[in-house]
Amino acid sequence: MDDLKNKIKSLKEEAFSDLNRVDQLSQLKELDRLRIKYMGRKGAIQSIMKGLKSVDPKDRPLIGRLVNSFKSEFGAKYEEKREELRQRAEQERLGKEWIDVTLPGVRQRSGKIHIIQQTLDEISSIFKGLGFSVADGPEIESDYYNFDALNIPKDHPARDMWDTFYIDDQTDRTVLRTHTSPVQIRTMERRQPPVRIIVPGRVYRNEAIDASHHAVFYQVEGLYVDNNVTFRDLKGVLSYFSRQMFGDNLLVRFRPSFFPFTEPSAEVDISCVMCSGKGCAVCKYTGWVEILGCGMVDPAVYRYVNYDPEIYSGYAFGLGVERIAMLRYQINDIRLFLDNDVRFLEQF
Ligand code: DAH
Repeated sequence: MDDLKNKIKSLKEEAFSDLNRVDQLSQLKELDRLRIKYMGRKGAIQSIMKGLKSVDPKDRPLIGRLVNSFKSEFGAKYEEKREELRQRAEQERLGKEWIDVTLPGVRQRSGKIHIIQQTLDEISSIFKGLGFSVADGPEIESDYYNFDALNIPKDHPARDMWDTFYIDDQTDRTVLRTHTSPVQIRTMERRQPPVRIIVPGRVYRNEAIDASHHAVFYQVEGLYVDNNVTFRDLKGVLSYFSRQMFGDNLLVRFRPSFFPFTEPSAEVDISCVMCSGKGCAVCKYTGWVEILGCGMVDPAVYRYVNYDPEIYSGYAFGLGVERIAMLRYQINDIRLFLDNDVRFLEQF
């Protein structure tokens, strides 16, 4: 009996010193091994329990208590060790993986409407406010609409005003439209006056590309045909537009020019937005920058769409969207619009 008591006592001492030696993170497995060694089905405690049969019955309760307290103390110590190791593992992880909460966050880039589309929208909304509606037409166009019906006959030198991409080399009959003006013809063919439209759209020129010329760009065409439309209406609308776009203090000037489809024709200059007319590189020291072409629709054009020029009159205009955006935002290279460099695009 004393033998057994001593055996339990020394087993306990051994078990606890075993547990106490487990203090390395890597020893989680060892901890488990000890649990099995002492508490497992074939463990030390079990084997003592087996021997209980040969113990004098009156001593059994004492031995039972000793074994039970061994079990519960061992269990508690084991749990404590496990928790200690778990916490240490956590500490170690936190020590390695630290976060500087004072660091600024990573900014997310948000998508934006392209600056040309923004400018198109703005131009459209000014003209919509004046009663214009939006029309469109094909970018691949017949030379009839792009030229003939706009009073630019075949082999006429006026065609040289537009460097043209031809789609069919054989006949030269199909082109990438060089301007939005063909939509004037397409619209008048279908509708009777009053016609009051704008045509925002892409156009193409077979041109050497540099800082101020591109082969692909945008125009907004305008057309108003009705009874008694005069050059005064044209001046009023385009002056209003220019001031809405560039500011109230702007000067607007109509300079005589030539287009085959308008007579008389004019180009509109505004006082230079960079130097307010004092003279700078952008306005080539003239104080003025050109923003659009316009004029009264030539009666020759009405013949192509069966409008009676004795009854109707009208004006038309065409402006370059890139040019307007460049002046407005002080952009010095037209190629930037198509480069799709986000460092450029995200500024607008
Ligand atoms: N279509 C011309 C061009 O691309 C611009 C233009 C000038 C349009 C006068 C018009 C106009 O409607 O009346 O150069």
